Amino acid sequence: MAEKTAKAAERGRETAVQRCILPGCGATFGLRERIFVCARCGGPLEIENTLPAMDEAPALPRLWRERAASLDPRDSSGVWRYRELLPFDDDAAVVSLSEGHTPLYDAPRSARYAGLDALRLKHQGCNPTGSFKDTGMTVAITHAVLLGARTVICASTGNTAASMAAYAARAGLQSAVLVPRGQISAAKLAQSMDYGAAICEIEGNFDDCMRLVQELGDDPSIYVANSINPFRIEGQKTVAFELMEQCGWRVPEHVVVPGGNMGNSSALGKGLEELLALGLIDRLPRLSVIQAEGAAPLARMFAGLDSRALDGLRKDESRFPDALPPVEHPQTLATAIKIGAPVSWRKALRAVLRSGGQIITVSEQEIADAKAMIGRDGIGCEPASATTVAGMKKLVAAGHIRRDESVVGVLTGHMLKDPDYVSRYHGGTLSLDAAAPQHVAGAFRNASERVAASKAAILESLARRR
Ligand code: F0G
Repeated sequence: MAEKTAKAAERGRETAVQRCILPGCGATFGLRERIFVCARCGGPLEIENTLPAMDEAPALPRLWRERAASLDPRDSSGVWRYRELLPFDDDAAVVSLSEGHTPLYDAPRSARYAGLDALRLKHQGCNPTGSFKDTGMTVAITHAVLLGARTVICASTGNTAASMAAYAARAGLQSAVLVPRGQISAAKLAQSMDYGAAICEIEGNFDDCMRLVQELGDDPSIYVANSINPFRIEGQKTVAFELMEQCGWRVPEHVVVPGGNMGNSSALGKGLEELLALGLIDRLPRLSVIQAEGAAPLARMFAGLDSRALDGLRKDESRFPDALPPVEHPQTLATAIKIGAPVSWRKALRAVLRSGGQIITVSEQEIADAKAMIGRDGIGCEPASATTVAGMKKLVAAGHIRRDESVVGVLTGHMLKDPDYVSRYHGGTLSLDAAAPQHVAGAFRNASERVAASKAAILESLARRR
């Protein structure tokens, strides 16, 4: 049965296309066309998969579980294990670093902090390069190789760059990363150096880098690996499959994610909708996206829509505005999401509306404190990831999440991605703007202490800090 399912899925993949999502266009393109936006209207593309037949779907969870124990390199990837839902032939030469297979942790202290009875955190920072980007990059770089690309490129706040550089190194491709000079964490930049990327530090912000990448995408030698590329989304959507598997296919009431360029939320939404279409889940969890206050163009738009307007957009996507008003000078210490003009806003908004979720902002102080709380659960994430717990606390307070509902937060990056932020928080010197300091208090501060080199002094110090 499982083999029959796999074969049928392979037939389906032959008919997958890249489709423009704009309601007035809908143009389709082949999977081997090197385009990153619609060649007819410039709109965003997504992969339209021909899903396995409904009567074959029930066999998939078991097939996927069995693969987790197999030694085939594709099965030891938490992305390619779900290949029935990926648009590649079975013999595709996969570029993998055994990504995925990330833990789903109980987080009791963070739950209490957010006002919830219980909370689970899916830690995508446990991927090979320390962020969720790896699940998308394995698919994009596999596609780049398939197309015969020589140079892969991305704009990045650090994590996409590190991930792309690593996968390009595995595949023997040149990688070029465009990063905003002085605005990304040193640890992330160091990763790109070690993986051999050509690093271009651009005078400008992330949005300037992204514009340049879109221009460079016209050059036939270049393959764009940002999440504007729908193959990235295909890989990242597998987090929905893995999460539901870890939940025993019982759908949580809420899933909460950070929002920057909006690829992650778009991908989760797509993965969940595919599971729903296959009947593997019976409803969608409410998907909510959290942005940092100073870099929140989509949350701003969302806040300006009353429930009637939201309902109108939900029912008729042709009413979506043509463009999202950008934030010209985005500001946040969560540098991963310091983005004012997210390229995938439309897909993310669609996913949130279809699932009945929210898009809100959190302050620098709220992010910093939530991050320290997650740390007290023994879970280390980077600042952008902590927007999830900070956002849940606000959603609970506002009555959008009930304290007894089941909630999953997605942590997107590892704590060691930005150790400087962590020591400044605990040292009490975290500040948004060095020139005009806006101090972020270390409310859950845990600074180190100088202790004399004696047993008595150490015991005394420990007793005081008990
Ligand atoms: N969390 C982390 C740790 C990130 O690195 C990013 C995005 C996000 C959240 C937001 O995800 O963009 O899909 O909405 N980082 C990109 C980068 C922009 O270049 O590394 P998104």
